[in-house]
Amino acid sequence: MEKDFSLRELNTFGFNVKAKYFQRLETTDDVNLLLDNKIFRQCFEKDQVLILSGGSNILFCNDFYDGFVVYPDFKGIKIIEDTENQKVIRCFSGEVWKDFVDFTVAENLHGLENLSDIPGKVGAAPVQNIGAYGAEVKDAIYQVHTIDLASGEIRVFTNEECKFSYRNSVFKELKVKRGELRERGFYPLIFAVDFVLKKKGELKLDYGNIRNNLISKNITNPTIQDVADSVKEIRKEKLPEVGVVGSAGSFFQNAIVSIDKYLKLKALYPEIPSYPEKDNMVKVPTGWLIDKAGWKGYREKHVGVWDKQALVLVHYGSGKPLEIIELMKKIQHSVKEKFGIEISPEVNII
Ligand code: EPU
Repeated sequence: MEKDFSLRELNTFGFNVKAKYFQRLETTDDVNLLLDNKIFRQCFEKDQVLILSGGSNILFCNDFYDGFVVYPDFKGIKIIEDTENQKVIRCFSGEVWKDFVDFTVAENLHGLENLSDIPGKVGAAPVQNIGAYGAEVKDAIYQVHTIDLASGEIRVFTNEECKFSYRNSVFKELKVKRGELRERGFYPLIFAVDFVLKKKGELKLDYGNIRNNLISKNITNPTIQDVADSVKEIRKEKLPEVGVVGSAGSFFQNAIVSIDKYLKLKALYPEIPSYPEKDNMVKVPTGWLIDKAGWKGYREKHVGVWDKQALVLVHYGSGKPLEIIELMKKIQHSVKEKFGIEISPEVNII
């Protein structure tokens, strides 16, 4: 266990936040030691424990986290089932997500290619049901292996038990409020995820610029690798490079509004992009709202709004987490004033 441990390298915003206690977990023995650790137990009782994965979807509000940060770093990838049509692959939670996707693409397996180059680690993918370019990880997850930090018991969640929805799952609820598992005294640490990936399948080319990107390269009959390459190129054009500019990807969630609200907006802004949702609701891209409200490329001291994708807030270095919070509030206020829509952060604010 480390004390006053700097998390600067472990959050992609790049803020120099310190954790009072920090423990990296590489083996099940490490987990058992952690569960016997008195300081950990005290923090756990006080609800001052944070499971930190790749740190690419998190913003610490303060320079000091007054609690216990647990950092799962379990490594390994193994094929546990290989049948005519599919493979089931177990990937341990400390593996880097984009390396794992590259591995599945090299194996010529369908399912994760549209999720190429998303920052973060494998263990976090189910937590917020990561999604991009028309795909969501829930469609490739078979089951999630967890260990309960309260009792040390192992529990496997089937896909259905994970309760996936847009950028959400039963695991995410644990972090932001006392979700249903916490109320039952269960605090799962994800140590491995089983993915089911198809040997044959349809490629998803209809989202955004994928098809145009392929056409521009004269690719008419794309492979899985071609799609992964296109997604990587499109991401590079739109999103700040991890490790170069501090950010946590999309800072806000897309807005989901009623059809009435949408039609009112559409009358005022005929060009507004939208995607149908269930129950007569409509998804409106928050990036468009923020852009239209004039924030794209805005900069204030050390922080700003990315000039190629307004959904992304960036930290240019030497700033404080509170500067991002201030900017978030200003943008929320401005979008509310202009469009009457309340936008919520997608990033976990701790
Ligand atoms: N748009 C603008 N201006 C902007 C940004 C977007 O007009 O500054 C418009 C675009 O032209 C497009 C629409 O808004 O018509 C949607 O934009 P985009 O395709 O870039 O996707 P998004 O909805 O803004 C989501 C995910 C991203 C993911 C992309 C691509 C969320 C919160 N974000 O963004 O995920 O990469 O789709 O699939 O759902 C992340 O979660 O960190 C992330 C980057």
